[in-house]
Amino acid sequence: MSDEGSGDAPPHGGDGGGESEDEALLARLRAAPVLAGPLPRFAPEDAPAAPGPLFARWLDRALTDGVPEPQVMTLSTAAADGAPSARVLILRGVDIADCACLFASDAGSPKGEDLAANPRAALTWYWPAQGRQIRMAGPVTALGADAARADFLGRSPASRTAGFTGRTSRPLGGPGEYDRAWRAAQSLVAGEPGRVPDGHTVYRLRAQEAEFFQADPGRFHVRVRYTRSPSGPGWDRTLLWP
Ligand SMILES: Cc1cc2nc3c(=O)[nH]c(=O)nc-3n(C[C@H](O)[C@H](O)[C@H](O)COP(=O)(O)O)c2cc1C
Repeated sequence: MSDEGSGDAPPHGGDGGGESEDEALLARLRAAPVLAGPLPRFAPEDAPAAPGPLFARWLDRALTDGVPEPQVMTLSTAAADGAPSARVLILRGVDIADCACLFASDAGSPKGEDLAANPRAALTWYWPAQGRQIRMAGPVTALGADAARADFLGRSPASRTAGFTGRTSRPLGGPGEYDRAWRAAQSLVAGEPGRVPDGHTVYRLRAQEAEFFQADPGRFHVRVRYTRSPSGPGWDRTLLWP
């Protein structure tokens, strides 16, 4: 939301479609600072042998440094026909030893349909204040009812109410329709506090590869990629050209 009191209205009036307004917006975009720093340093020689502990170390540092919402990540999926899509989700759990990440969603949502048809995905985090990007990609499995129950029942009443409104990403007839669904979901949560929506699913992405990118204000970026070793239980680690 803009802080200029006019919502998302164009900053210079008019309908926002003019060429000079496009240019002005582009000029402001180009002038906006990126990777201004100061940024933390990442010495690849200090990188552990496996990515899970490094992910935990970076998460810990993000929390300590007050990075806003470091648990928010982009999940990219692809449909059966290969069409990609991405959206942000909350990281619900981490298996540090196995470098696996948990997230929760409605199996009937478009992303749930993608994952049913093509159970592979990518996760991306970007923490601008630290110039850090983390990427993971690998196979995704849907955990069972116990995991779904524990995840769902640990949520706030508002989150559980939202979970029962269902129909994620389907066209909505108007705000009234959602109001009614919300009230019905609220009574359901109040009346049956132990109930879990049928589609609520915890997914586990087991990283096949994981990459850590430490940006540098002077553009001397550092990238380290881990790939599960084809010949054993460990990981292969390599530097990448920035
Ligand atoms: C900060 C934030 C966190 C979100 N966390 C989740 C989440 O954990 N699970 C989820 O299903 N959707 C979450 N959403 C909503 C998704 O981004 C998305 O809009 C929704 O799940 C529908 O995605 P789909 O149509 O690709 O299935 C979140 C949205 C935001 C802005």
